[in-house]
Amino acid sequence: MAAEHPTAERQTFLAKHGVNADSVPQHVAIIMDGNGRWAKDRGEERVFGHMHGVDSVRAAVEASLKSGVRYLTLYAFSTENWNRPKQEVDALMDLLVRTLVHELEDLMSKGVRLRAIGDLSSLPEAAQAQLKEAEERTAHLTGLDLVLALSYSAKWELVEAVRQIVREGLAPEDIDTATLDRHLTTADLPDPELMIRTSGERRISNFMLWQLAYAEFHFTPVMWPDFREAHFLEAIRDYQRRERRFGGLLDTNHNEWNQEA
Ligand code: FPP
Repeated sequence: MAAEHPTAERQTFLAKHGVNADSVPQHVAIIMDGNGRWAKDRGEERVFGHMHGVDSVRAAVEASLKSGVRYLTLYAFSTENWNRPKQEVDALMDLLVRTLVHELEDLMSKGVRLRAIGDLSSLPEAAQAQLKEAEERTAHLTGLDLVLALSYSAKWELVEAVRQIVREGLAPEDIDTATLDRHLTTADLPDPELMIRTSGERRISNFMLWQLAYAEFHFTPVMWPDFREAHFLEAIRDYQRRERRFGGLLDTNHNEWNQEA
């Protein structure tokens, strides 16, 4: 569902690209994949692919703003990514910090609120400090929430949530799905309706396992550094072609889905 009534400018943009303005997903989550292969194909180091991946991050943010997507979550660094060579991990962290410093003013001018989820305490001090500053300075902005998943994995997040629930001493019979929702790092975010993964891989790789329960998945062979607005809009059109039933039945009288689960 669109977060707000689409402006005339947005209506025109979406109509031009065959996107229905009334059913733009509110939250899109992306597994940005293929940077390493993209670089290798060009005879370059993997880091070269990550650097070009920043252009695609910018394109995804712009496309979200233009389309009326309200939340964009990017899987920027997984818990498993710590197992990569130190040189690549350091380069990725450095790229994150430099990008935040370089892009912050521009993001702010566009109304982007920056947020981070994951085991942030495991990030280098400089990254933690830069993220904290970006989060504080953009906390009041309401155009788009850009959520960076960093040192994130869904299994880590679920274990943390369970630990916290146990610490709080909740009775088993008082625990339901809403309890889990409230204890996840995404507690104040709606679940993504659309998950995009680039590079032709068709897995969710420990990403938002709980939150993606009803999401539509769009897999594209495009490598992340080549991902642009056209690919983002194709994913939204693909999403809009699917029927979203939530395990329920279509109420043909009201043209709305009855949710059962
Ligand atoms: C996956 O490609 C990508 C990553 C692990 C890192 C993503 C990081 C960026 C796009 C740049 C920095 C991001 C921000 C938000 C500033 P891969 O290395 O797994 O590629 P491969 O599957 O081809 O090896």
